[in-house]
Amino acid sequence: MINNRVLTVVEDLERTLVEFIRKHRVTHAEYRAATDLIIAEVQAGEMSLLFDVFLEAAATDVGNQDREGSVEAIEGPFYLPGAPWLEGPRHVLPQRPDEAGIPLVFHGQVTTEAGKPLAGVELDLWNADAKGLYSQIHPGIPDWNLRGRFRSDDEGRFEVRTIVPPPYEIPKDGPTGTVLNALGRHFFRPAHLHVKLRHPHFGERTSQLYFEGGPYLDSDVANAVRTELVITAQLVEDPELTARYGLDVPFVDARYDFVFAPSPAVSDG
Ligand code: BEZ
Ligand code: FE
Repeated sequence: MINNRVLTVVEDLERTLVEFIRKHRVTHAEYRAATDLIIAEVQAGEMSLLFDVFLEAAATDVGNQDREGSVEAIEGPFYLPGAPWLEGPRHVLPQRPDEAGIPLVFHGQVTTEAGKPLAGVELDLWNADAKGLYSQIHPGIPDWNLRGRFRSDDEGRFEVRTIVPPPYEIPKDGPTGTVLNALGRHFFRPAHLHVKLRHPHFGERTSQLYFEGGPYLDSDVANAVRTELVITAQLVEDPELTARYGLDVPFVDARYDFVFAPSPAVSDG
């Protein structure tokens, strides 16, 4: 059966690409190099890296135009479903006993657009370690390290401790690296936390939060930074406060409040 959305989009893509090939006088050898690159991308296990670097942010922006509430962000290629559930209320992402990096306490509240606290929202958080590497993606890291799920409390509040992730370099030795090298671009993303939110009524949202003042905010290789997603973070050195989080070293405190608006066609209640 014909799918009208597929018909509209794919036929326009076909027209656009045919026009593009004629406009740039793309030769058969160049055409084959492009198809080989896509095949190599899959064979190298880079998953959606190439597309996520060049195109994912544009698709995310389109989704943001039709929805109220906190803006969404790119998911990137390193999300894994099924992260472990964490004990609360002071959640701590799974980490090695000697996990490198400054501890980060990330907290906030989830509300509706009307400011009503949303309890029981599933938050699924993942971030890179101090070397910029993700568990189960890069070798040598315990499974589920710095990945975990927990729920907002009765007032919609949440708190989780992880480590401050660094800016990181995306894999540069594979096909995506070949393209970026040919364009003379760098490979860095600014430091960020990834979070997915899920609610039985409101659905799923994907966010990503960046740190004010950090490097690469203006030159993200994935062009995905949006002002609304840049948060401020403070170093807390007060021993009374560090002890409250079970720490004997300073930590970074960062807050972000999520406004979870219903998807179009679902009402706020
Ligand atoms: C990330 O956020 O992890 C990511 C996004 C796009 C490309 C590579 C990594
Ligand atoms: Fe990431």
